[in-house]
Amino acid sequence: MILVTGGAGYIGSHTLVELLQADHEVVVLDNLSNSSEESLRRVMEITGRRLEFVKADLLDVDALEQVFNSYPIDSVIHFAGKKAVGESVAEPLLYYENNVCGTLNLLKAMRKHQVKRMVFSSSATVYGDPVSVPIQETAALQPTNPYGRTKLMIEQMLIDLKGSWENFSVAILRYFNPIGAHTSGRIGEDPAGIPNNLLPFVAQVAVGKREKLSVFGDDYATVDGTGVRDYIHVVDLAKGHLLALGKTGEENLLGIYNLGTGNGYSVLQIVHAFEEASDSKVPYEIVERRPGDIAVCYADSGRASKELGFAVEKGLTEMCQDTWRWQKNNPEGYGV
Ligand code: NAD
Ligand code: WQD
Repeated sequence: MILVTGGAGYIGSHTLVELLQADHEVVVLDNLSNSSEESLRRVMEITGRRLEFVKADLLDVDALEQVFNSYPIDSVIHFAGKKAVGESVAEPLLYYENNVCGTLNLLKAMRKHQVKRMVFSSSATVYGDPVSVPIQETAALQPTNPYGRTKLMIEQMLIDLKGSWENFSVAILRYFNPIGAHTSGRIGEDPAGIPNNLLPFVAQVAVGKREKLSVFGDDYATVDGTGVRDYIHVVDLAKGHLLALGKTGEENLLGIYNLGTGNGYSVLQIVHAFEEASDSKVPYEIVERRPGDIAVCYADSGRASKELGFAVEKGLTEMCQDTWRWQKNNPEGYGV
């Protein structure tokens, strides 16, 4: 059985669909701090399969112990964590406690119960401002904010644990910019309040919930001056987790993998692609650069492709169409 921490969230819920469709038994642990149990109901609706759910916090050591005592867990996919860059600057201790201490508790429970396989959600944010693109896994790690530093600290904990526990098998996945939604339009990204990320904001403008997009700077050294990122469809990303999990079962792994497409798109290219996919207008204005933003970031995912057989199937049009379907059918997210 697979323990999926943070499974009610955006990437977790999409990964659950793939896991259940591949006949895996799953128990989800989530404190619902940034998600809703409705996502899990919809995962079961899409797949016609059942999953177990425990509402608990990774900081609650007793609850964690109970989960490991109650279910025959043999591997863990660890999504649970806080992920808002700005909030991490304002509340760094909250981020170190939730992400680093939460993972520490999880690893202690895994060690105690001899659960040896793990897939961890890291982020391209560990690279900070890259020296060159496309970014390879061997690039310098220099995160520029507390959120990114929690990811790097966790990576280092995993590497140290591997050094002392030979049978521990771990895949560290560095995601680039996940967007899109399941093609059913039943699950998707449901940010609380004003979205921090580009696609949810664009989608809310297109649906008429917000007046216009603020484009953060048009004076970067890029194709049109706006920031360039490597957007990856969340379903392609979810599939990458199954490949990584399989790899942790084949060998005693310490694998670090970029998961991106290798393509970079600018903010304005995204706006235009979204307008086309949604047949709607996305008014925008150019404003100041957002502090801490970088100009260009995209992946070299050659290692994941070679070692995991990872390949993306969905391009930008599908990413925008699927985001739009989710947004249009669920204007209030899981709230309705
Ligand atoms: P999300 O917020 O939708 O999902 C995270 C889930 O973890 C939520 O359901 C939340 O309730 C839960 N959670 C948080 N702290 C917890 C705790 N202490 N105990 C139990 N549950 C807890 O985020 P997501 O976009 O699905 O991201 C999943 C993971 O991937 C995160 O670790 C995130 O840092 C990482 N990541 C996300 C992105 C992105 O752009 N979405 C990019 C790179 C990496
Ligand atoms: C993308 C582009 C913005 C919003 C963040 C985290 C990273 C990772 C993914 C978790 C940039 C521009 C955005 C808006 C805009 N998360 N933009 N107007 O900054 O690449 O990465 O999310 O690990 O750690 O830092 O993603 O979606 O916020 O921005 O112009 O309202 O869109 O400047 O060029 P980012 P994003």
